[in-house]
Amino acid sequence: MTTYAQIFENNKKWLAEKIGEDADFLKKLSRDQHPDYLYIGCSDSRVPANEIMGLEPGEVFVHRNVANLVNNIDLNVMSVINYAVEHLKVKHIVVCGHYSCGGVKAAMTPKDMGILNPWLRNIRDVYRLHQAELDAITDEHKRYDRLVELNVQEQCVNIIKTAVVQKSYIANNYPTVHGWVFDLETGLLKDLNIDFVETLHKIQKIYDLTGELANHLNK
Ligand code: CO
Repeated sequence: MTTYAQIFENNKKWLAEKIGEDADFLKKLSRDQHPDYLYIGCSDSRVPANEIMGLEPGEVFVHRNVANLVNNIDLNVMSVINYAVEHLKVKHIVVCGHYSCGGVKAAMTPKDMGILNPWLRNIRDVYRLHQAELDAITDEHKRYDRLVELNVQEQCVNIIKTAVVQKSYIANNYPTVHGWVFDLETGLLKDLNIDFVETLHKIQKIYDLTGELANHLNK
């Protein structure tokens, strides 16, 4: 285990390396941030956002929670999305799940998990939405993998349902929303190729919060 004191040594070593690579590192770090990406991922310690994307400090705005959920009444994630879209003007929003996600696994088990119940309910609801497809997968591990993917997909849809994303897209043509899954066994990111515009089309009848989405999409 890395000791507590070692962390501060690591920090100094990291800083020396960064300054070694780029003498202006601190000057750039202390300037305003202008990330093009908002990353919403799982809190799992094995999925470090900046590292797997190969991005430097300042290049990605990050929010992480158990099982990378975007819940409409979670003030935390909604504040992050609003700030990232309205003020940082990010061009891409990524939801990144990962196979072997403990949160998704827990939601596949019908059991009282105390304080986790309302959180995991979001994933149970994803299962219910896609029950026919999931129940048709007989291999339990494959069904688990697929639920990880469908959970990412539904969180992307949740982002597309927000007024801030719809308004910005109509005005600026960005952000677009992407769903990824990180594979712990291969170390690779998989793009689920979620069609942002098609999703906007599909949800607009019920979830257009701008009153202009239909017009905009048919232009
Ligand atoms: Co996870």
